[in-house]
Amino acid sequence: MFKRPEILMTPGPTPVPHFVLAAQAEPLVYHRGPGYGALLDEVVEGAQWLLQTTADIIVYTSSGSGGMEGAVANVTSSGDKALVVSVGFFGERFKTMLTNFGCDVTSIDYEWGNTAKAEDVIAALDKDPEIKFVFCQHSETSTGVVNDVEPIARAVRERDKLFILDAISSIGAVDINMDEWGIDVCIGGSQKALGATPGIAFCAVGPRAWEAHAVSTAPRFYFDWTAYKEALERPDSESPWTPAISVLAGMAAALRVARKEGREAILARHVLLARAVKAGAQALGLPLMGEDPERAVVVTAVKNPPGLTDTQIVGALRKDYGIVVAPGQGPMKGKVFRIGHLGWFMPVDVLQFFGALELVLDKLGYDFKPGSSVAAAEEVFREAGQ
Ligand SMILES: Cc1ncc(COP(=O)(O)O)c(C=O)c1O
Repeated sequence: MFKRPEILMTPGPTPVPHFVLAAQAEPLVYHRGPGYGALLDEVVEGAQWLLQTTADIIVYTSSGSGGMEGAVANVTSSGDKALVVSVGFFGERFKTMLTNFGCDVTSIDYEWGNTAKAEDVIAALDKDPEIKFVFCQHSETSTGVVNDVEPIARAVRERDKLFILDAISSIGAVDINMDEWGIDVCIGGSQKALGATPGIAFCAVGPRAWEAHAVSTAPRFYFDWTAYKEALERPDSESPWTPAISVLAGMAAALRVARKEGREAILARHVLLARAVKAGAQALGLPLMGEDPERAVVVTAVKNPPGLTDTQIVGALRKDYGIVVAPGQGPMKGKVFRIGHLGWFMPVDVLQFFGALELVLDKLGYDFKPGSSVAAAEEVFREAGQ
């Protein structure tokens, strides 16, 4: 029987558009020599453009967590004090990594769904001046929260500490001005808003992070920034080890299209899609998770209707309609399901999603006005002239 490929509405990996798939299917360019160098340069410049920075871009063959570990391994030394601003699952990951690297970790732990506040970070730094680093998520994919990191980054910079930002699920979906805000390390990945397949992470490394790197004694080899910088500075830019060449080609293609669309247009598209998703969920009477859903332009976490579990909804959407959304993570397991709307989504994807969700909720016995979520999402697009 004919079966369409599944439609990913997960918060990563995201749907890979045809121009990225085509680029990833191209014959390989050898990674020592001019072909690969041009590709790597294009990705480096594209990432700098997205992040509005002149920072060096260190491109790893790894998933996003490799980028996070790379940041930890290149700036810290055992015994260093680090502050983790944790609003969910990935904040906890930073804590584990830093602990495993021997750092003395303190944290600000927000209830899941809440956003980080600059005043809390300021209070923590002023209380313990020995803290050297602040680690934080921009978009916390487990809850949908998008932290307002600009005031946090500025406060950290004013206190002469290093600010390391996991922007894996926000780069390309939410505005980031790395240099102006004072972000020292910014971490991204291939499989989120850029829409390439998984396999590449990158760290944008600013001048103060290089200073920290020079004195950092954490053990490292594969992720050592010095090796990457040396390779980048060869006559034709290289990676120190065999890279995920095809994924890089996909990222380069995605960045080419993104640059044509324009940064502002891409970010505006994410805002519009998120508004439509939220309007649709609310029309069905499904409460949104989080204290500031307006900011949640990457993923929308929706509370399960009474009497239904996320696994029932996620399972039926996938089985009956081939649409994949994500269940809750950590303490949110069983309580919410998460709709991803980052990357190359269009209004029609949202309309299709709500049509399928309504059919699923109906089969599961949930009471709602049929067509209401599609109409609400449609209204958002109509008002925006889409
Ligand atoms: C905010 C954030 N940080 C880190 C990661 C970890 O990335 P990966 O699963 O690619 O290692 C993810 C992945 O979902 C993420 O969304």
